[in-house]
Amino acid sequence: MATVAPTRPRDLIRIASSHYLSKEFAAREKARLWPRTWQVACREEEIPNPGDYIVYDIADETIVVVRTHEGFNAFHNVCPHRGRQIMEGCGHAVNFRCRYHNWTFDLNGRNIVVQDRHDWGDALDGEALDLHRVRTDSWGGFVWINMMPEGESLIEYLAPVPEYLDAFEYENMRLRWSLKLHIACNWKVAMEAFMEGYHVAATHSQLLEFQGDDYTQSFAHGRHSHFGYWQSTTPAGCPSPRLKRAAPADIREMLVRYYRELEDTFGAITTDRDAEAAEQILEHLPPDVDPVAAMAAVIDFGRKAAEAEGCGYPPNLTFDALIKAGNDWHIFPNGVTLPYFDGAVWYRARPDGDDPNRCIFDVWSLKRYGPGKEPKVEVQEHHDIAGKSFGLIVDQDLANMAKVQKGMRSSAFHYARPNPVQEVEISNFHKHLEAIVAAEPDA
Ligand code: FES
Ligand SMILES: [Fe+2]
Repeated sequence: MATVAPTRPRDLIRIASSHYLSKEFAAREKARLWPRTWQVACREEEIPNPGDYIVYDIADETIVVVRTHEGFNAFHNVCPHRGRQIMEGCGHAVNFRCRYHNWTFDLNGRNIVVQDRHDWGDALDGEALDLHRVRTDSWGGFVWINMMPEGESLIEYLAPVPEYLDAFEYENMRLRWSLKLHIACNWKVAMEAFMEGYHVAATHSQLLEFQGDDYTQSFAHGRHSHFGYWQSTTPAGCPSPRLKRAAPADIREMLVRYYRELEDTFGAITTDRDAEAAEQILEHLPPDVDPVAAMAAVIDFGRKAAEAEGCGYPPNLTFDALIKAGNDWHIFPNGVTLPYFDGAVWYRARPDGDDPNRCIFDVWSLKRYGPGKEPKVEVQEHHDIAGKSFGLIVDQDLANMAKVQKGMRSSAFHYARPNPVQEVEISNFHKHLEAIVAAEPDA
């Protein structure tokens, strides 16, 4: 069953369950999506010095990304001798040496050692013994890769995302923490848990007390898309209109709780600095302050705290820029980010081998730090998440994922019906994905 592209705003959109369950669909993604699309391989700060490398695995491909004095290189991480994967994990290298028989490659991928080369006589002379290069580029402090040797540049591919997100200066943020989880769901189920705000009322119901209006709108921008609270009538600090409760007479306490709750139960998007800055409104603003003015004051206290700590503050990140960006971007195919003034979260999901019911899911919390003040972040990797907690917000989102995957396998479920107003990120994602996987291999 095909995803039906809407011709009118409220047409029913259907996403076939086979997109999430079928091995054939996953095989088409492996053949037609992953080798042809730009994708985030790592943060730049994960490989800070020339010679630092990291391995990025996607479906059956393994790619090594290395920083050099000139920039970043990426190569298919496979030895042309007898096919061993060469590098693993991350670390520092002066060259890439295959541990099987010592064939060695410099950081530009050139073969520099064939052990006992004389055994071949001159038979290897015409052979391509260098590593196969993968295109790289940088945006937002991320190293992106594309296995297609030619084609759209990263900046062409990302358009119009930078127009909306450049103001946040992701390149000046650094990792605050990093999670790498192996999850029992399709990679798209994991992505889609963060591609709409429609789930907040049910899944994160504890936020309704002070998050303001949780009703969202969402829009496509080519292959990418975003959602935001543009129609919100009630700002943060007030209860969601769903609760049918009056706003508190003194908004300050609730706004402080809002930032504190996000910090204590998530530790991403907003920051610990935001939570501390929010507390200053208790001292500096009157109890009857207007909610919007209170929010503006929190942001201003946060900016001053960031500047005092030497973190700088993005000059183009005005309130208007924040409104224009909205709250959440899906960057096709497997990036989702929610930016804020002082920090951001970035999610990435990818298939774990050939099984459509498994994925590797990364969560990166980013924050501005003063020069040299960024923490040394160890990736927390978990192959089994059962019984583990990663903070209430992430736990609540994770709880839906495996249950969605299980429910979709029911004989009673045939297609998803995304909300045409609030879940456009999801319908747009599948519209573009379907066009790619349906294309002829060499089209
Ligand atoms: S497979 Fe790499 S040196 Fe033999
Ligand atoms: Fe969520």
